[in-house]
Amino acid sequence: MSHPTIAQKAPYKMTVEAGKTYSWCSCGLSKKQPLCDGSHKTTDMTPQRWTATKTGDAYFCGCKHSVNRPLCDGTHGKI
Ligand code: FES
Ligand code: FES
Repeated sequence: MSHPTIAQKAPYKMTVEAGKTYSWCSCGLSKKQPLCDGSHKTTDMTPQRWTATKTGDAYFCGCKHSVNRPLCDGTHGKI
């Protein structure tokens, strides 16, 4: 298992829609952070699908090391 690239050591704030599914980039290589753009093909990582339960702002992990992925859990402060 390869290690993810840190896209940024901070979350990405994104407005999400209830019921909509998003593909979070787990590898850190996407140019469309925080979402997957297919760049993981050079790795053994795959995007993580996540469905929003409510409409509003979500904070997606940018460091790719969150334990609560795809959302930021503060782990970026320790890496
Ligand atoms: Fe990173 Fe797809 S580009 S998981
Ligand atoms: Fe990854 Fe916060 S940005 S835990």
